[in-house]
Amino acid sequence: MLERYHQYSEQMLSQLKNGIFITVKDRKGRVNTMTIAWGHIGIIWGKPVFIAYIRYSRFTYDLLREAEDFTINVPKSGTLKEALKIAGTKSGRDIDKFEEAPITKQRARTVKSPIIKECPLNYECKIIYTQSQEPALISSDIKERFYKNHDTHIMFYGEIMDVYHMEDDK
Ligand SMILES: Cc1cc2nc3c(=O)[nH]c(=O)nc-3n(C[C@H](O)[C@H](O)[C@H](O)COP(=O)(O)O)c2cc1C
Repeated sequence: MLERYHQYSEQMLSQLKNGIFITVKDRKGRVNTMTIAWGHIGIIWGKPVFIAYIRYSRFTYDLLREAEDFTINVPKSGTLKEALKIAGTKSGRDIDKFEEAPITKQRARTVKSPIIKECPLNYECKIIYTQSQEPALISSDIKERFYKNHDTHIMFYGEIMDVYHMEDDK
């Protein structure tokens, strides 16, 4: 169990509503990042995990299903707004977001997916479980609001292998 995996949870969760990045490199070597605003941090099977919710339609989903891991990249509050907008409105199928945003890939410490250099707080996560939502079990008001087009979310459970804040290393 990674000690103090929750050390930066407050910072991550308060930024989550404005958007953070999930970055993935798949087994074919394809790399992409996208903005997310849904997620959890907690414990399952005695392991610290970050759970991300990714719709089937995302290019990021295509990569995650072919990947071993992902990283979660948290901007400093109020920064990288344009990059979050680009990563959250354009698809990696059409553009290279690292060029367009622009943001910089940096080698992670323990996983194959890179982190984002401009984000001071990064989580490195190994995918240990994937689950799709069961539409029949979603309440009708939520289904009406979020899933009229049946593009439901897949939950990717990432065991937190490492978490660090760059500014702590200075
Ligand atoms: C603030 C914000 C939060 C978002 N959160 C999520 C999310 O949690 N899950 C999701 O599937 N899409 C979310 N999106 C939408 C994706 O980021 C967006 O569709 C993106 O263009 C997908 O890129 P891709 O096709 O390269 O994967 C969010 C977008 C924004 C702007």
